[in-house]
Formats: sequence, C-alpha cells, structure tokens
Amino acid sequence: MAFSADQIRQRVRELGREITDSYPEGELLVLGLLKGSFIFVSDLVREIERPLQVDFLIVSSYGSETVSSGHVRLVYDPETRLEGKHILLVEDIVDSGRTLSRVINVLQERGPSSIEVCAMLDKHVSTFLPHPPKFVGFDAPDEFLVGYGLDHAENFRHLPYIASLQ
Ligand code: IMP
Ligand code: MG
Repeated sequence: MAFSADQIRQRVRELGREITDSYPEGELLVLGLLKGSFIFVSDLVREIERPLQVDFLIVSSYGSETVSSGHVRLVYDPETRLEGKHILLVEDIVDSGRTLSRVINVLQERGPSSIEVCAMLDKHVSTFLPHPPKFVGFDAPDEFLVGYGLDHAENFRHLPYIASLQ
C-alpha cells in the first residue's frame, strides 16, 4: 500500500492548516478538478478554517490508458465569478503537469487575484512546470496509483487508501 487511510487523514489535516495560514484575507474559491479530486476536496475543505467557496471543473485527459496522452479537454466551466478571488485549484495527482498548465491558462483570463495549486500527489515527472503546486500532500512514486479518488478506467476511486495498480 502506498499511503494508508491514516497517513492521508493526517496529511490532509496538515495541508488544511498550511492553507488556512497562507490566506489571511480576501475571497477564497477552492476549485476541484473532477473527477479525481472529489474525495480530497471534501476532506480538505473541512480542514480549512476560514471562509471559502467550493466549485468544480471537469477536465478529461486520460481515457482508460495509464499513460498521459497529453490531450486535455475542459468539459465544463464554472459559472462562478473568479474575478478578484483567490483560486486554489485542487488536483488529485500531478504527472506531466499538462492538465494544470492548460487549466491555469484558461482561468487566468478571468482575472482572479491569485491562482495556486494544491495536489494530493506529485510525481515530479516534469522538470519545468510554469505553476508548480504550492501545496503537496505526498511525493508519489512513478507508478500508476489508484484509490482516494484516483481511478483506473473508472474503478477503485472509492478506496480509502492509495495503492499501486500492480
Ligand atoms: P498530467 O496532465 O499528466 O499531469 O496528468 C494528470 C491527471 O492524470 C490526473 O489528474 C489524473 O487524473 C491522471 N493521472 C496521472 N497519474 C495517475 C495515476 O497514477 N493514477 C491515476 N490517475 C493518474
Ligand atoms: Mg484527474
């Protein structure tokens, strides 16, 4: 098992504290990238002790393959106003970083006052990311991981822990 439910719970609590401390004032919008971040977002926002709003974006990049194809599709745009808000994009796992770069470019045009990324897992595959995640749960091995929102062909998202597919 890569990360147990207990390890995840403890780390999410710490992340919540870090995020609480780094946003002193202003409107905060936590924007989860679906579907992978749905469990992480729901756990994370309950550990952030300041006013915030929650919304989601659907971005698809993988299909049922286990290797990034590099194609990113923005399926849904939130109607929520982004202008003047602090945006915290929440991603399940950063692999090539293409998904994030693409989404950040789109969101930046709407005039938020800041955009930061919180990723549950970071594979550190990419040597150059224009927007490296400011908050990271765990450094991930370069393996295909499932559970805690992460899927393989839509299976395993419900597992309370994170495990390697092998
Ligand atoms: P990137 O655009 O290459 O960074 O890919 C990021 C997206 O690919 C994530 O949001 C996941 O949906 C998916 N992904 C990347 N690595 C894994 C993995 O190990 N397990 C499950 N999904 C993954
Ligand atoms: Mg995803």
